[in-house]
Amino acid sequence: MKTLLELITIDMREAFAKAGYDEELAKVTLSNRPDLCEYQCNGAMAGAKKYKKAPFVIAEDVAENLKDSVYFESVDVVKPGFINLKLAPESVSSYLNEMAGEEKLGVEEEKDPRTVMIDYGGPNVAKPLHVGHLRSAIIGESVKRIIRFKGNRVIGDIHLGDWGYQMGLIITELKKRRPDLPYFDENFKGEYPEEAPFTISELEEIYPTASAYAKENEEYREEALHATYLLQNGCRGYRAIWNHIMNVSVADLKKNYERLNVEFDLWKGEADAQQYIPDMVQMLKDKGFARYDEGALVVDVQEETDNKEVPPCMILKSDGAALYDTTDLATLVEREKDYQPDEVIYVVDKRQELHFTQVFRCAKKTGIVRPETELKFLGFGTMNGKDGKPFKTREGGVMRLENLIREIDEEMYKKIMDNRTVEEEEARQTAQTVGLAAIKYGDLSNQASKDYIFDVDRFTSFEGNTGPYILYTIVRIKSILNKYQQNGGSTEGLEIRPAENAYEKALMLQVLKFNDVFDAVYAETAPHKLCAYIYDLANEFNKFYHETKILSEEDEQKRTGYIALLVLAKRVLESCIDLLGFEAPERM
Ligand code: ARG
Repeated sequence: MKTLLELITIDMREAFAKAGYDEELAKVTLSNRPDLCEYQCNGAMAGAKKYKKAPFVIAEDVAENLKDSVYFESVDVVKPGFINLKLAPESVSSYLNEMAGEEKLGVEEEKDPRTVMIDYGGPNVAKPLHVGHLRSAIIGESVKRIIRFKGNRVIGDIHLGDWGYQMGLIITELKKRRPDLPYFDENFKGEYPEEAPFTISELEEIYPTASAYAKENEEYREEALHATYLLQNGCRGYRAIWNHIMNVSVADLKKNYERLNVEFDLWKGEADAQQYIPDMVQMLKDKGFARYDEGALVVDVQEETDNKEVPPCMILKSDGAALYDTTDLATLVEREKDYQPDEVIYVVDKRQELHFTQVFRCAKKTGIVRPETELKFLGFGTMNGKDGKPFKTREGGVMRLENLIREIDEEMYKKIMDNRTVEEEEARQTAQTVGLAAIKYGDLSNQASKDYIFDVDRFTSFEGNTGPYILYTIVRIKSILNKYQQNGGSTEGLEIRPAENAYEKALMLQVLKFNDVFDAVYAETAPHKLCAYIYDLANEFNKFYHETKILSEEDEQKRTGYIALLVLAKRVLESCIDLLGFEAPERM
């Protein structure tokens, strides 16, 4: 279904044309003076020069031709030539009723669905998840849901960091502790044990120990590097350990992401791309894209229009080892082979922007991806503490994701227990649901590329522009609807009626904007605009709620009209938070 803005634009274009003016001038926008009108058109001003007429005259001509439009209650021409529009309550309510009948609340699906891959999450296997990975997971999950809602085929890939030096470190430390294991016996020809020689908690201890030790001990570091080399070059025993690390670690990661309501379609990683490297390197050499620079194999990606240096893409180090650039290019080879995506979006820390500029240019230039494939870097800023520096623990260490979540949940739990008397058990559950909304909304309500301050007190507040406030509003609507049903009312098949007062109309206008807002959110990949929208919507609902007797309204038609409006507002709010990646509890 068309958005209301599209519908009124059609009438506006007709009015311009009938009055003898170019219909391209008929651009309608939301009003920037909500005290005067709801929508506006400034096209008369733009036309003044072309038609050598006062804008006011043009605007009056156009307004004259809007008289028959069903959409407007009033069309006011205001000096110097603004056309101020107010919608007719009947057209608003009938639009809302139509919207209520649509599964996607009036959002039109893409006519030519595209295949979009989203590379997000990006945790490094066997290293603890930290807050840096939180942003990628939160933003990527929301972007995935938004693009999917529009009817595209979307594939979310976690792209594990599973092929690096950390693996060599773990192998080296394990060898030091348990040299007797068969993985370290070169003459061992049998089957390796199925059971991993460590648990997840042991693994979590082994990596940091090894990493710290390698920093002080050069010999140990060399050994870890060598172990990495052996692993990457087919050592059977090391590959078996790698498999154990993957199994143990991935099971743990799955739990963590589930807790975050983040779900990947693919659990691929850097290791999966390795098999594509030899052929890719050969192609780069054969086609003359690659050259040797002090022993390293590189591809130049500098462009004439650059005003900064963009260093060459590094394909192989002088010792023949592959690098981060190589793996990302080979991953594109793999993605092209398996999915032929129309677009690949990378949700990664913005400090990695140069790396992706190099990789994208190289992939385009060398034909690894098709010329029409869109490669997009969605870089996000840093999550800072209240001191404006990257978020740390109280002791100044790197904050682990689990601890951060626990801290938020505790805070939410306290607030929920203070608030009223729900059973402890339920409060624990609810605290998790609301806590997640607090974290996600706190992140997503900022433009992704900006840094933001992670403020536990503010994020967990029930007031202001926060996740808990949004959930509180939804819970309030749920509770009204529940009471209505307990009193014997049914919420099925009710009609929204034309608004009779300003609060009701304001709420309706806000609900009605959903599909317009969604399209902007989709076009700009901008979840923060969805947050801004639901914050306004929650505010409009709460104003309406405080000014209106809903359940105690005696006029039955009015009462059921309100209920129908609440049902729709709730659906819109719930759809939006689902697109953001969280949900509302029943009570709080
Ligand atoms: N594992 C990487 C990190 O922790 C992020 C991976 C991002 N994705 C990619 N295709 N390079 O920094």
